[in-house]
Formats: sequence, C-alpha cells, structure tokens
Amino acid sequence: MRLLSYIASVGAIVGLTSHVASAHPNSNVPNLRRATSILIDPPAQPDLPPAAQAKTAAAAAGLNLDDIQGDILIGMKKKQTLFFFFSINDAATFKSKLGTDIHALITSTTQLLPGSTQPITAVNIAFSQTGLTALNITDDLGDSFFRDGQELDVDALKDTITNWVPQYRGKRIHGVFLIFSDTVENIDSELANINSILGSSITEVHRLAGAARPDAEEGHEHFGFMDGISQPAVIGFPASPLPGQAVVPAGVILLNETEDPVTTRPAWTKDGSFLAFRQLSQLVPEFNKFLVDNPIVEPGLTPEQGSALLGARMVGRWKSGAPVDLAPLFDDPDLANDNTRNNNFDFSHPNEDLHSNQTRCPFSAHIRKTNPRADFSSPDQFQNNHIIRAGTPYGPEVSDEEAASNTTTTERGLAFVAYQSVIGNGFHFLQTAWADNPGLSDPDPGFDPIIGSNGGQPRFVSGLDPTNSTRDFTLITDFVQSRGGEYFFSPSLSAIAGTLSA
Ligand code: HEM
Ligand SMILES: *[C@@H]1O[C@H](CO)[C@@H](O)[C@H](O)[C@H]1NC(C)=O
Ligand SMILES: *[C@@H]1O[C@H](CO)[C@@H](O)[C@H](O)[C@H]1NC(C)=O
Ligand SMILES: *[C@@H]1O[C@H](CO)[C@@H](O)[C@H](O)[C@H]1NC(C)=O
Ligand SMILES: *[C@@H]1O[C@H](CO)[C@@H](O)[C@H](O)[C@H]1NC(C)=O
Ligand SMILES: *[C@@H]1O[C@H](CO)[C@@H](O)[C@H](O)[C@H]1NC(C)=O
Repeated sequence: MRLLSYIASVGAIVGLTSHVASAHPNSNVPNLRRATSILIDPPAQPDLPPAAQAKTAAAAAGLNLDDIQGDILIGMKKKQTLFFFFSINDAATFKSKLGTDIHALITSTTQLLPGSTQPITAVNIAFSQTGLTALNITDDLGDSFFRDGQELDVDALKDTITNWVPQYRGKRIHGVFLIFSDTVENIDSELANINSILGSSITEVHRLAGAARPDAEEGHEHFGFMDGISQPAVIGFPASPLPGQAVVPAGVILLNETEDPVTTRPAWTKDGSFLAFRQLSQLVPEFNKFLVDNPIVEPGLTPEQGSALLGARMVGRWKSGAPVDLAPLFDDPDLANDNTRNNNFDFSHPNEDLHSNQTRCPFSAHIRKTNPRADFSSPDQFQNNHIIRAGTPYGPEVSDEEAASNTTTTERGLAFVAYQSVIGNGFHFLQTAWADNPGLSDPDPGFDPIIGSNGGQPRFVSGLDPTNSTRDFTLITDFVQSRGGEYFFSPSLSAIAGTLSA
C-alpha cells in the first residue's frame, strides 16, 4: 500500500524527488522523497531508543509497539504536523476504506523509531465520541469527558467560548488525521491520497498545520522555551528511563493495559489512548513585554537578566530547558543539553524547606503546577495524573511589526496534544485541579502563569520574585488562550482493522 500511495502522489513533488534522491542515493523507494527524519532531536529532549531494541524490550514487558499508533509514546518531536479534522458522511464506505487502504497508511510506534524504515509521511487517526457513534460503535469507553466532548467541558476549563474556533463547536468533528513528515509538500500529497481514498465519505471540518520552529528554535515553543523534555516513561517504553524521569504503569497512558484505572473497557480498546487536543494561541509579543516591564531586581542582575529570570520562573525552566530548580539565577545550557541531569530534580533540597522555600522554583511555575514531583507526600499519589505531551507549535514566527508594537496580529501557538487513559486524571485534571487552582498548596501559589485561566479575569501568581516570597503578580492578560479543541480516542492498529471497520 505504501508503494501505491507513493506512486499516486509522486507527481506533485517531482521537483523534490531529484534533490532528495541525490542526497540518499541508496535509499529504498519510500525514502526517496524524504531528505531527513520526520522527527527532530534537539539535545535537551530525550533520545528515542532504536526500533528493534525498543520493540524487544517492550514485548518483554507485554507491550506491542507494532499495535500502538506512533504518536502516543514518542513525544514532542514532529517536524511538520497536519491536524485534519473531518466528519463522516457515509459510514459504510468509510468503514470499508478504514479497514483496508487507510489501515495500511497508519504508522505504528515501531515504524517511527530510529533505525526502522520510516514512511515518507506518517499517519495516525483518532475519533471523537460522535465519530464512534457515526460508525455505529455503541460501546462505552468508560470516560465521561470523552463521551460528552470538549465543548461541554468549557466551563470547568475556564475557556471563553466566544474565543473558540466555530468548527470545534456543535460536535461536528468525528475524527482527526494526524499527518507527520519533514516537509509540507509530503503532507499535502499524503492528504490528497487520503482524500482520494475516502472520497465523499468524509468532509473536512477544520485543519491546523503545525511545525517545529526554525533553526536554533527547533524544539522550543513560541515563547522561546525548550519543550518536550519531561515526559513519563511507561513500563516497557523506553526500557531505560532517564534519571528523574517518572515511570508509570502502561495503563496510565494506554487503555486496558496494566493498572488502567478503569477495568471495564471493551477488549478492542486495548493499546488505544485518549487524545486531548487543544488549539492554544500564544500572545508572544505581549508576553515579552510583560517580562521587559517586570524584571526581577536582584543584586548582580542586569534588567535583561532580570526579565529572563522572571520568564524562567514562570515556566520552571530557562529557555534552553535547564530547570530553575538546579540553575536558580542564570541559564545553564550545558545542564539543559545533558539528559542525565536536565530532568533529575524533585524540588526538594537538604536543609531547605520543600513546603515554604521557593527561592529556586516557584510553586506556581508551569512545570511545578503540572508535575509537583516531591511536593505531595507520596509520589504514587499522583501516578495517574501523568500525560504524554505530543503537540507541535503552529503559526508563523513573530514579525518585526508585531515585536515593535508589542501586539499579536497573526495567530500562533501550540497545537496541544495530551495522551492519557483517563482524561479526568490527565489533561482535564492538570488544567482544572492544578493549573487553575490558586490554592494548590500552602502558601497559596496562585494560578499557573503560563496556562492558568480565571475565566478571562485577572489572575494572581505568587512566588515569582525570589527576593520577596509574599509579593504577588497580577496577570491581566492570559498569554495562552484556548481557541477550542476536542477529545478523541486513538485506537490500536488492530482495532482499526477490526471493530472500527467491521
Ligand atoms: C501554549 C501552552 C503551553 C506552553 C507554552 C507550554 C510550555 C511548556 C514548557 C516550556 C515546558 C517545559 C519543558 C518540559 O519539561 O518538557 C512544559 C512542560 C509541561 N507542560 Fe506545558 N505548555 C503549554 C500547555 C500545557 C498544558 C495545557 C498542559 C496540561 C494541562 C501542560 C502540561 C505540561 C506538563 C505535564 C509538563 C511537564 C512537567 C514536568 O514533568 O516537569 N502544558 N510546558
Ligand atoms: C448499525 O447497527 C445496526 C444494528 O446493529 C444496523 O442495523 C445498522 O445497519 C448499522 N449501520 C451501519 C451504518 O453500519
Ligand atoms: C482488558 O479488557 C478485558 C475485556 O474487557 C478484561 O477482561 C481485562 O481485565 C482488561 N485488562 C485490563 C488490564 O484492564
Ligand atoms: C531557601 O533556600 C535558599 C537556597 O535556595 C537558601 O539560601 C535560603 O536560606 C532558604 N531560605 C530559608 C528561609 O530557609
Ligand atoms: C513595547 O513595550 C516596550 C516595553 O514596555 C516599550 O518600551 C515600548 O515603548 C512598547 N512599544 C510600543 C509601540 O508601545
Ligand atoms: C514584599 O511584597 C509585599 C507585597 O507586595 C510588600 O508589601 C513588601 O513591602 C515587600 N517586601 C520587600 C522587602 O520588598
């Protein structure tokens, strides 16, 4: 099937073919159109294990990487991503194509890992509850947030519904294709292939194109901070977790796997995962102005260094990715780029009170709000609250005009993706119970300064000033704003070939 799709779409990218072919004279046919990997690999992000080794190690732990869709476990590493949201018009035709030609396009975890023959363009698929219903699947997947859809969750998420892109409203989205490659041309040709397979059985509802930022910013989100560093490992993948990396039973991320908190799943949901999608716009020039206007004043820091420190304390990491818990005053790129050290901290330090001393990392910092590590008595207490993040930045770089006027005029942000087995433990919990909860611990940390929402009202954030722990900041602007989203289920490859297409 790969070869057929290649031939069907090769005409559109013929110019690129010769360029890439000369770069890889010995590559097999599917690689002719791809000059580089689908995945980025900045030094601060964990490396992925080689496919063969990972597959064997996972199998020994009972995980089948050939059956798990490729996006779920690998993290924030895609070069180019297209989220193509669709509705199903003709369930019978859709099902017959899903089980055959579409199934053949779906990329497994093994196929995406280094050392395997990556497809030219990787494809994953996920369905909303209304999509499953359209396919006549009446099983209860055991997740109320998935069943109800994200629009019904807006009040709890403190979204401003009038900021939602209209296409996310009204439960019109039945599913999403996630299409990954190294170039937009490859993605466009794969989308054309998918559309020609499915014909009028689907209709496009919305699309969002994401891409790793250019050059030195690769791997960084739009505010400039390295992303995708701290991800939980599931038991079995990767086989060798990094120092400080959380390790959770596979059932925290994958349905019907070990320690899935819900024990009554239909058997066909095994090795699927719920995908929480959010189109999160980021007001970058406004964020930068806030930093310039509010530098931390501390002996030995220039105003620029004080502004950088404020930003680092809002995130909990410097732009390089170095954690402020280990580098409290100045960025440390060597620390950032060392995977054995850059996630090896839990906010506790000898002779410093974990529950009152936030000289190093504020309680409100984004990474501490969303993963409090040692802050709670027992680590197992929040084992089930881990998510694997898999999003991609979207939108253009900040223009000179936007920077000069301190004003966003073109939307950019994060096409946020979180995988978990229970949305109410994962994304929904992190956003509502932690990021938006000003009283998470004592002293009250306030809101998460990056993603916290107070329903459009000003938010207080404490702990940002290391010289004065009682000083609160009041954030008038939400630098991250929800434009909407949906909850999906990303099934295993065998479920796609089986129940979903039957
Ligand atoms: C535009 C919105 C967002 C931006 C700019 C952003 C940025 C970042 C950055 C720079 C990091 C540090 C890099 C790392 O540790 O991997 C991070 C980590 C993290 N973020 Fe976000 N994030 C956003 C949205 C979210 C949302 C909506 C959630 C969940 C509700 C979330 C949950 C997390 C988690 C769990 C971590 C890892 C924390 C850790 O384990 O230390 N993020 N984010
Ligand atoms: C849906 O299921 C019902 C009952 O099993 C069946 O009668 C109907 O034909 C199915 N529809 C489709 C589109 O498969
Ligand atoms: C997986 O699903 C089957 C069928 O519902 C069930 O018998 C089994 O206990 C489940 N396993 C786990 C680990 O949830
Ligand atoms: C808090 O920790 C810092 C080191 O990060 C230390 O210098 C300071 O003395 C501690 N403050 C208190 C009140 O213990
Ligand atoms: C942008 O913000 C900076 C920092 O506050 C300020 O110096 C500058 O005058 C602002 N520019 C405009 C056009 O408002
Ligand atoms: C610390 O902040 C509080 C609240 O803003 C303020 O009242 C107090 O004067 C500050 N202390 C110092 C030493 O600046």
